Amino acid sequence: MVTGGSRGIGRAICLALARAGDVVAFNHFDPDESAAEETLELLEAKGVACEGQRFDVSDPEQVRQYIDHLVDTYGRLDVLVNNAGITMDALMVRMSLEQFERVIRVNLVGAFVCLQAAAKVMMKQRSGCVVNVASVVGAIGNVGQANYASSKAGLMGLTKTAARELAARNVRVNAVAPGYIETAMTEAMPQRAQEAMKAMIPMGRAGQPEDVADVVAFLCSDEARYLTGQVVHVSGGMYM
Ligand SMILES: NC(=O)c1ccc[n+]([C@@H]2O[C@H](COP(=O)([O-])OP(=O)(O)OC[C@H]3O[C@@H](n4cnc5c(N)ncnc54)[C@H](O)[C@@H]3O)[C@@H](O)[C@H]2O)c1
Repeated sequence: MVTGGSRGIGRAICLALARAGDVVAFNHFDPDESAAEETLELLEAKGVACEGQRFDVSDPEQVRQYIDHLVDTYGRLDVLVNNAGITMDALMVRMSLEQFERVIRVNLVGAFVCLQAAAKVMMKQRSGCVVNVASVVGAIGNVGQANYASSKAGLMGLTKTAARELAARNVRVNAVAPGYIETAMTEAMPQRAQEAMKAMIPMGRAGQPEDVADVVAFLCSDEARYLTGQVVHVSGGMYM
């Protein structure tokens, strides 16, 4: 299951995880179904079974219902990718409490709710893998993103704690921290901020959703079987 899988990085993760015989499920909270439908078509073209549903990842009841539905239908849950995320940027002194709380609620509380529901299933199975999508700004901060950077730093702490609590049950929990990736989220940033971010990338190019998705797929694979509690920065060297 991938949260926020309708577009951008989440869609690329769905596609990177899609292997014959698997079921890829995702959720989203877009105003309409058009991007989600496109993702489903791309997954079907790869020959995997798939489904998508619209609900708010920060609503614990809906998350529980959906994870229950997946386990009832398919019998198990091997992978959870907490990718859903939003921004509501403003300089810290001007940021409203509502702006701060909403971003924490979706990005951090939402991930916690999904992780908790999935962990119960995975602990029983004695296998599973979780990847949280954090951000480079959770490690270095960013002007205008007090809410977002706090949520992403929180995700890193959540990742390490869950990794310690679940390791003995053969459940691995890692995070990726993307840098500047070209998606609808970064397209919405003011042009000046986009240029400033790009200027911070040693590799000299913006990232693509697939750059992140391939690392997520690796973290979920058997090749990464001895890897847990790590935050892998996928940022062209923005953070090192
Ligand atoms: N684009 C970047 O440069 C960048 C950098 C670092 C981290 N990230 C993180 O990567 C993740 C994906 O970002 P993106 O750039 O693809 O963004 P995007 O805006 O293109 O896609 C976000 C996805 O999350 C879903 N979503 C939003 N709010 C939700 C909610 N309340 N419940 C369920 N789903 C919800 C949307 O429907 C969509 O599917 C986010 O967590 C983001 O913070 C992105």
